[in-house]
Amino acid sequence: MEDGARKPKQDAANLDMIVTPWEVKGVIDYDRLIKDFGTQPIDEAILSRMKNLAGGLHFMLRRGFFFSHRDFDLILERCEKGAPWALYTGRGPSGQTTLGHVSPWIFTKYLQDVFNIDLYFQLTDDEKFLYQRELSLQDVEKLTYENALDVLAIGFDPKKTHLISDIRMSRDMRELSLEVAKRVTFSTVRAVFGFTNETNIGMIYHPAVQAAPCFLPSRIAKMDVPTLIPCAIDQDPYWRIARDVAPRMGYHKPSGVYCKFFPGLGEGGKMSSSEPETAIYTTDDPNVARRKVMNAYTGGRPTIEEQRRLGANPDVCTVFWSLYFLFEPDDEKIQDLRESCKAGEILCGECKTNLAEKVVTFLEEHQKRREQAKKIVESTFI
Ligand code: TYM
Repeated sequence: MEDGARKPKQDAANLDMIVTPWEVKGVIDYDRLIKDFGTQPIDEAILSRMKNLAGGLHFMLRRGFFFSHRDFDLILERCEKGAPWALYTGRGPSGQTTLGHVSPWIFTKYLQDVFNIDLYFQLTDDEKFLYQRELSLQDVEKLTYENALDVLAIGFDPKKTHLISDIRMSRDMRELSLEVAKRVTFSTVRAVFGFTNETNIGMIYHPAVQAAPCFLPSRIAKMDVPTLIPCAIDQDPYWRIARDVAPRMGYHKPSGVYCKFFPGLGEGGKMSSSEPETAIYTTDDPNVARRKVMNAYTGGRPTIEEQRRLGANPDVCTVFWSLYFLFEPDDEKIQDLRESCKAGEILCGECKTNLAEKVVTFLEEHQKRREQAKKIVESTFI
């Protein structure tokens, strides 16, 4: 198995940091995650190749939101040669979609637009049914539909976007997941995911199902079509399994490009669908979203007088990071904001209002596109 693949998830130095596909907690040390997971940092060489290919760099790359990868360079090499490849990403439908989920999808859409390629999008309704006791099969199927509307509302090319519901899995998906499952032992998934005797057997099989779309484009096209998976780094354990079995199945190892966690609006922590007051859902009423933003945790001082005198701290401010990672792509504006925040020239109320306006505009447009997506959503499932 690859470097880092079987490392225990925690040691004494990072006891407060937990990053698994099901749980993210504590202060995240991304350099440490790169070491522990055995991934690569996105370095200058990758950025300059990407810049040449795309004619510029997306702000999520420029600002290090996408910070790590596995074999992204092999995909860039294919782009340079004009060889085929495909995008693969997904969502576990456990609730409504948040801005956290949307952030890697926006980058995925950018890659689809730049390279004009197919996207395979998996909805792991099986995983969420198996993992969350309170969810019935009907619940997860309904959420699959709801989340699929969000995927299409992002603006992916519907002709080049193929949604997969695991519950309604195709013959190709079924056969691929069996081929993976046959090559992965319980001892491997236990080491990678920390499964125990109490884990239900569906969850133990699930890594094979999540690995299957890595190979689906090649199987459908009957030729080499390796995949690039844009996602947050929490999903990397799945790709270690997929990469391990790939050569034995006669496929390329999937590549990954990983982002950090988009913050929730509370003090510390990622935006998470299980924390409704600090998460913004794509289905939130814009006025509710505005209220959440106006209650956000900032790096401000207790009084206006102190803030004017001493300045505030953008580094711990959820409003600043929401703008930095998602809502303010203009580098000059974000730099001005950082400086005027530190100098006490701008107060938190003004900044929150600015973010709230952007969030409301995003939600209004997204919700319109979500409605339109209802007409085509069924035809995009494979
Ligand atoms: P899920 O539903 O937990 O997450 C969906 C996608 O959103 C990313 N993500 C975040 N990214 C930035 N900031 C956050 N706060 C944040 N929260 C979640 C996740 O990394 C993921 O990219 N098992 C998967 C579904 C899946 C999948 C895939 C995901 C199947 N195949 C391929 C990515 C790639 C899941 O439950 O994702």
